[in-house]
Amino acid sequence: MKFPQFSMLPFLMVAVMLSLSGTTLSHPYWDFLHCLSLRLANYSTISKVIYVQNNPSYSSVLNASIHNTRFSTPATPKPFAIITPLKTSHVRSTLYCSKKHGFQLRIRSGGHDVEGLSYVSEVPFAILDLLNFRAIKVDTKNEVAWVQSGATLGELYYAIAAKTNTLAFPAGMCHTVGTGGHFSGGGYGTLFRKYGLAADNIIDARMIDVNGRILDRKSMGEDVFWAIRGGGGNTFGIVLAWKIKLVPVPAVVTVFTVNKNLEQNATKIFHRWQYIAHKLPDDLFMNVWITKVNSSQVGMKTVQATFRGMLLGGVDELITLIQDKFPELGLAEENCNEMSWIESVLYFGGLPLQSVDILLDKNALPIVSLKAKSDYVKEPIPESGIEGLMSMFLEEEADNAVAMIPAFGGKMDDIPENELPYPHRAGNLYEATYIVQWTKEENAESGKYISWSRRLYSYMTPYVSKSPREAYVNYRDLDLGMNNNDYTSYEQASIWGSKYFKNNFKRLVQVKTKVDPMNFFRNEQSIPPLLSPWKKKGN
Ligand code: FDA
Repeated sequence: MKFPQFSMLPFLMVAVMLSLSGTTLSHPYWDFLHCLSLRLANYSTISKVIYVQNNPSYSSVLNASIHNTRFSTPATPKPFAIITPLKTSHVRSTLYCSKKHGFQLRIRSGGHDVEGLSYVSEVPFAILDLLNFRAIKVDTKNEVAWVQSGATLGELYYAIAAKTNTLAFPAGMCHTVGTGGHFSGGGYGTLFRKYGLAADNIIDARMIDVNGRILDRKSMGEDVFWAIRGGGGNTFGIVLAWKIKLVPVPAVVTVFTVNKNLEQNATKIFHRWQYIAHKLPDDLFMNVWITKVNSSQVGMKTVQATFRGMLLGGVDELITLIQDKFPELGLAEENCNEMSWIESVLYFGGLPLQSVDILLDKNALPIVSLKAKSDYVKEPIPESGIEGLMSMFLEEEADNAVAMIPAFGGKMDDIPENELPYPHRAGNLYEATYIVQWTKEENAESGKYISWSRRLYSYMTPYVSKSPREAYVNYRDLDLGMNNNDYTSYEQASIWGSKYFKNNFKRLVQVKTKVDPMNFFRNEQSIPPLLSPWKKKGN
């Protein structure tokens, strides 16, 4: 890396900014900020790129992408600085100065990491927040797009729909999720039975490696390109942008919702669904949501299974298909709605169907505290097992809990387990994500909600995948295990690594050892290198 010309001016400006804000100059992170200010060398840039703790905008920049208020309490460890690069050279400078002064860097895109790992760390750290890296270029002629990794899914879908209503991208359902973290862990949504994961449709990427080199698919090599498409974020480098393949969708799709509560045979219908849904044509997406709702008896609660889905086709075709294959659902025309694919994004995202502009609004949905866990199911759960699951949703802690259960099959069955790091392919009937939510005001009682989710997870043990009990890295769960602050052995990391990646974990460790042997890019569940620097020194 080239060193900038030394100039005292930016250094003095940061000094003034920090001293005015009451920050003492003897802070250990001073050298880092000094290093960075020298490299930015321009006051107006510094003020737009570096946010130290007493900067008036620090809290709003920090909170702007916190999507789990479990991690926005006064006791939550805070970064000593947030860096919001405006261009690639700022990213390289941040990387250079973090390495030089030994500070941990957490990379943040959409900030939806369910364990808050993109903005919380137990060791002193800075956040590299990609909120200014949100450009999207859609090329409908070649059916591809470049999307910078700080862009949200909503921004990506909006940009595609602004040019065409017959191309789309198969990624997640929540519009505020960031492409940086989401694509790094796989990413699925309403088109995954037809086209696979978001990661399956990435064809190139721009990434900065630990040595500050800017790489594309060719220069990073196929091993690294394989690893960054599903091996988890904050591990192999900083992804700046993805090149994605767009996929065809009809101008009209049909969405539907059917609610069945316990009194309407929800248990039996869900039981039956397990035998059918994964075998339905891949043009159909179907998800079941289990939640607690008010019963028709005043003051009583019941549990509801919401069957929600989408067909890449018209309403008549959908009704004929479901009446033939899954008549127990009782799907009728009034449960269905024809619309464009971009409107279906609003429908599944829980947004009003009025204007697609809402996809650009990061604050359109309430932000709560939550804990998530996930499972994969390979054999239908017996009715008695489903009854027990349903009854857990009647417990007090489950007032705002949900089990989200998308049917697998289709394209997911055709992709080999080792094609990408995401291994949960053929043989899965469905994935189940259990999310328990509570308000920020209830954070003092978070323990009771978290223990409910652990009890539910324990209850599900006999019914889900085994050896390993598989889990989805994008619904990160630190209960599965964590790296140490220094050296983590392969064996220790394998405990959670094999759940997320099965046999692909071994290859991920090999790639990590090759590209980041000193383990600069790390968090509680990043892939560790085989031999850590500490071990090499014999410590
Ligand atoms: P965030 O910025 O927190 O990053 C997540 C991880 O990736 C962190 O470790 C971070 O350091 C790293 N990272 C981020 N940007 C990076 C970059 N440019 N380079 C390298 N590393 C980077 N999943 C799904 O498959 N389908 C769905 O429909 C949904 N829906 C959903 C809804 C809600 C409300 C939540 C909270 C989560 C989901 N998810 C999901 C899970 C989601 O895919 C997962 O949390 C992603 O990692 C979030 O990516 P963000 O960029 O938003 O998070």
